[in-house]
Amino acid sequence: MLKEQIPSTVVEEINDDERSELTQKIKMQLEQRNALIVAHYYTEPDLQILADSTGGYVSDSLDMARFGNESHADTLIVCGVKFMGETAKILNPEKRILMPELKANCSLDLGCPADEFSKFCDAHPERIVVVYANTSAAVKARADWMVTSGSAVEVIQYLVDRGKKIIWAPDKYLGDYVQKKTGADMLIWQGACIVHEEFKGKELETLRKNHPDARVLVHPESPGSVIAQADLVSSTTGIINAVIEMDAMKFIVATDKGIFHKMKEAAPEKIFIEAPTAGKSATCISCAHCPWMAMNSLRKLSRVIDTGSNEVFVETDIAHRAKNSIERLLTFTAKKPANRLAGDA
Ligand code: 13P
Ligand code: SF4
Repeated sequence: MLKEQIPSTVVEEINDDERSELTQKIKMQLEQRNALIVAHYYTEPDLQILADSTGGYVSDSLDMARFGNESHADTLIVCGVKFMGETAKILNPEKRILMPELKANCSLDLGCPADEFSKFCDAHPERIVVVYANTSAAVKARADWMVTSGSAVEVIQYLVDRGKKIIWAPDKYLGDYVQKKTGADMLIWQGACIVHEEFKGKELETLRKNHPDARVLVHPESPGSVIAQADLVSSTTGIINAVIEMDAMKFIVATDKGIFHKMKEAAPEKIFIEAPTAGKSATCISCAHCPWMAMNSLRKLSRVIDTGSNEVFVETDIAHRAKNSIERLLTFTAKKPANRLAGDA
């Protein structure tokens, strides 16, 4: 993807009076419209708190999809990025899906255009096509399976055990990690998450020396040099579970810093340190906060419930085909309830 496609990370400033006024207003509107908020851990704490306190849900991309699928609300407001809104719509065509910001995209989605990807798949018809959740509906429609960070290793292992060769897209780091864990024969699309790609192996080594008592928790979209130093490689849910389950008091965390809100809530007595994103004299682009996730805000959320704007639509034929690859994963993970808690990649 092009550098110009990356917005700068801007978190909307809001004072306490406006926060409480908007929160009250949104709570009333959610009730009136039988609407619920489904938010990702990387969004602003204001949104996560509101989702939690109004019967909504805050989670990783897999569980956000599951929740949307199981909920009885007429409207779901997806606070996250485009692929999360699309997945909610594909699984719930009868529901109204709104997003605070339709421009909130993802570098992995942007770096894997459906037409180019389709040509790549056409050139290798003997391979099973497995795509990460962070892709457009059109890319999912071209795939046999969709997976998430919390399910990728198990799905690929399942396919390897059945003698399958694989096309993997779009995240090259997650692809390399899964390939190493399973020994799969994989052709890997060369996409990357601009947030996780910035974590630096060398600087992490130094930080670990300064905090020898810290455990290192890493999201598998990070480079191999960072993953190699991890005590745990996991989805966002798995990383949060780890701060409760591990007996350490200190954690170095290589994922978007939005996750610190839930970590502090889960283990307020523990210490969390951001993994380094830039070396000496280097600068970071995202500085460990996704610029697209940061586009979600209370003000925008209030506006979309007010006006019903920013509705997500997915073309029927694409939605129908994408649903097959998403549902294949939901069925696979439903048979293994243990995954749901651990969320390990
Ligand atoms: P999770 O599914 O682990 O929440 O990851 C989604 C994501 O976008 C990570 O950057
Ligand atoms: Fe996409 Fe990375 Fe943002 Fe996750 S953090 S939504 S992978 S750009």
